[in-house]
Amino acid sequence: MDQQDAFVNWFRNSSPYIHAHRNKTFVISFGGEAVLADDFDHHVHDFALLNSLGIRLVLVHGIRPQIDVRLQELNLSARFYRNLRITDVAALQCVKEAAGTVRVEIEALLSMGLANSPMAGSGLRVASGNFVTAKPLGVIDGIDYCHTGEVRRIDSTGIQHQLEQKNVVLISPVGYSPSGEIFNLSAEQVATSVAMSLKAEKLIFLSEQSLLNPETAQPIRQMTSQEAQLFLDNHPESPDTLALPLKAAIQSCGAGVNRVHVIDRTIDGALLLELFSHDGIGTLISSTPFEALRPATLNDLGGILELIKPLEHQGKLAKRSREKIEMEISDYVVLERDGLIIGCLALHADEVGQFGAIACLAVHPDYQGGARGQRMFEHACQKAKQLNLKKLFVLSTQTAHWFIERGFQPSSIDNLPEPLKALYNPARNSKVLCKLTA
Ligand SMILES: CC(C)(COP(=O)(O)OP(=O)(O)OC[C@H]1O[C@@H](n2cnc3c(N)ncnc32)[C@H](O)[C@@H]1OP(=O)(O)O)[C@@H](O)C(=O)NCCC(=O)NCCS
Repeated sequence: MDQQDAFVNWFRNSSPYIHAHRNKTFVISFGGEAVLADDFDHHVHDFALLNSLGIRLVLVHGIRPQIDVRLQELNLSARFYRNLRITDVAALQCVKEAAGTVRVEIEALLSMGLANSPMAGSGLRVASGNFVTAKPLGVIDGIDYCHTGEVRRIDSTGIQHQLEQKNVVLISPVGYSPSGEIFNLSAEQVATSVAMSLKAEKLIFLSEQSLLNPETAQPIRQMTSQEAQLFLDNHPESPDTLALPLKAAIQSCGAGVNRVHVIDRTIDGALLLELFSHDGIGTLISSTPFEALRPATLNDLGGILELIKPLEHQGKLAKRSREKIEMEISDYVVLERDGLIIGCLALHADEVGQFGAIACLAVHPDYQGGARGQRMFEHACQKAKQLNLKKLFVLSTQTAHWFIERGFQPSSIDNLPEPLKALYNPARNSKVLCKLTA
């Protein structure tokens, strides 16, 4: 494949993700380390790209290393108890300086727009503000945390209002109390609270390293929140830069954020690879298993059509109109993977419950060969049994052997029940296959 074809192919392959992510809310959290890194402007370019693709973006930045540098400059030592900073009056001054400086630097980068740069023409607008109300953490084990606080409330209406204007919302890890005090907060906690209050589709942590399987040293691609908890229990030595996002992921999965990604920010283009390629490069943590087989709803129409249209063009599937699928949507099941429809199958039963027809079986080419077709097929067979259907039919041009290997026998048009015979298209010349369900 030459470079031109590769580009066209790559761009086309990312289109389902572009459609799937449009108008969705993503909260992206990154530490102060990311801001200090030489390649931070690459991340900023990617944020701008996500914004221009219609993703509603909330950025939450950290400031831990920036606070430490300021404390050192004042010859003050950072004080922690139970891994949490104690923010006394001197430390609070450092927090304010660090938060202000980092916020302004990020705003400046998001405002870039030089011709011939990735930000040219982006015209991005950033909104920062008093979106986080905080309260003091108080005294724990006799230790007064002073100005270290925790999130009390998120002004989700205010944030939504900004997102509706297509503005990128930038939030610092500080919060204000109704009495006008300032509190130093954990960026991970702020990001989690914001994602939960907005019911964000995704919460993304740009972490300092990949989450590796200790046995294989290979990145862990997906985990349920229970598995993430088990990982933390079994690896108490995990660095904070990994453990904090994981804890936040577990908390937010329990509170309605369905997808939390932990992505190694040191990989160039990490965010784009994770969001626009089929396997991603980070770890996806979800409350439910990552891939689910479920009955289709009308909301899946677009995804089903996107999946089957190329197969129709190749003659592997008979052409179906949107209206036909819409009318028969209750016959369909879909395989959904991270918000994308990667498989579908319809089981049409006749009115008197004698026979069924399997139709529109499709698995996205990127995911074929992983027993997904088999899974949907078994589901259809079970349903056929529940419905007491005696026989299952399928009409196939190029996949007859797949069905024969699963117990179907070659049959003929004459054996088709009348309603199916009426639908038979001689121009397609499909093979007729039949299977007894008992
Ligand atoms: C047919 C299809 C649904 C199978 O999905 P899948 O998830 O890849 O299937 P599974 O992983 O369960 O099964 C894979 C096995 O089927 C075989 N297989 C795939 N397509 C086949 C075909 N057209 N004919 C015969 N066998 C086939 C594979 O070689 C593999 O077997 P192997 O491991 O022994 O080599 C998928 O290939 C597809 O979407 N094809 C295009 C649409 C289509 O033809 N639909 C059927 C309309 S009647």
